[in-house]
Amino acid sequence: MIIDQHNRVVDYLRLAVTDRCNLRCNYCMPAEGIDFAQREDLLSIAEMIRLSELMVSMGVKKIRITGGEPFARKNLMTLLNVLAELKGIENISITTNASLIGPYINELKALGIRNINVSIDAIDPVRFFQITRRDLFETVMTNFHRLIEAGFAVNLNCVVLSKQNTADILPMLKLSEQYPISVRFLEEMPFNGGSQAFNGIEWNHTRILEHIKTVYPNLIQLPAAKSSTSVNYTVEAWKGRFGIIPSFSRTFCGTCNRLRVSAKGDLITCLYADPSLNLRSLIREGASDAELQSAIVKAVKSKAKNGFESERLAQGATNTSMASIGG
Ligand code: GTP
Ligand code: 5AD
Ligand code: SF4
Repeated sequence: MIIDQHNRVVDYLRLAVTDRCNLRCNYCMPAEGIDFAQREDLLSIAEMIRLSELMVSMGVKKIRITGGEPFARKNLMTLLNVLAELKGIENISITTNASLIGPYINELKALGIRNINVSIDAIDPVRFFQITRRDLFETVMTNFHRLIEAGFAVNLNCVVLSKQNTADILPMLKLSEQYPISVRFLEEMPFNGGSQAFNGIEWNHTRILEHIKTVYPNLIQLPAAKSSTSVNYTVEAWKGRFGIIPSFSRTFCGTCNRLRVSAKGDLITCLYADPSLNLRSLIREGASDAELQSAIVKAVKSKAKNGFESERLAQGATNTSMASIGG
């Protein structure tokens, strides 16, 4: 078991398989993209398998595949096929923009993957284009519906962006009346790759909730898993539910169970922290499993109490893209 200095059990790995993405969401990166990693600097599929096996042997029970856009990574299905067979993993989940997932939906289902988080920031095609800078709304919506029909547990992630998509909040929410999904509204975070200045947020979790309550005053709050990032609600007779994620307000750090590995192999103990070490370099220098394990244990021991402490201690660039951190 991996335990940090604040007595939190770290049993959830968020593994980024690429920093590339076929969209250019303006809250994540500039129109021209970011300085994407060179191919040789990415963890190979074999290295990701080794690290996943190692971390599962150390007590990791859940792996979420992130990016960039995971399906932009060649041979992602090779990795997923191996992870699906790994003893000790209870949950493999994926966070995707759903534009490239189409050809893989049946295989994902056959592998037993259940949870797919789909990022859709507008239900209005024009606003979708303005945010993502790509004309893929129809493809994304088709795949979103196919995922629901195939029986995946689908969470829809919508980053609430002041002056961009707040008119989409209520129409997006309506999707959870019709479908057995969770529509989650996320606070914007500063990780936009230098796309724009970030001066805090106008729409925090309280404002989002108040906005929803103006139309749905009788919300039913749902119980949440201990380390959940979202506070969840439903409305009577709705098929689905909705959630609000205070990712910038960081109210959930006390129960954080997460560890991240970026596409380049950086081990990141908190979303707001600098990387602790680079696992790719250690592996390529010939580190044994025991050496990798002790490096990971040592890094987790210094995991900050919360995202504010991490931010205070961070020396790195403040304009990192979420695509390089790995979601
Ligand atoms: P589960 O843990 O499986 O429920 O997934 P998730 O909802 O955390 O994962 P997802 O990849 O869908 O992330 C959704 C959003 O949650 C991200 O965009 C962030 O806004 C927020 N989030 C996820 N992990 C963290 C974290 O460790 N810290 C903070 N501050 N926000 C996070
Ligand atoms: N702020 C908040 N959420 C972000 N995401 C990407 N960049 C940001 C940001 N700057 C979201 C994606 C995806 C999730 C993993 O992170 O939309 O849903
Ligand atoms: Fe964990 Fe850091 Fe995210 Fe808080 S901000 S939940 S400590 S990763």
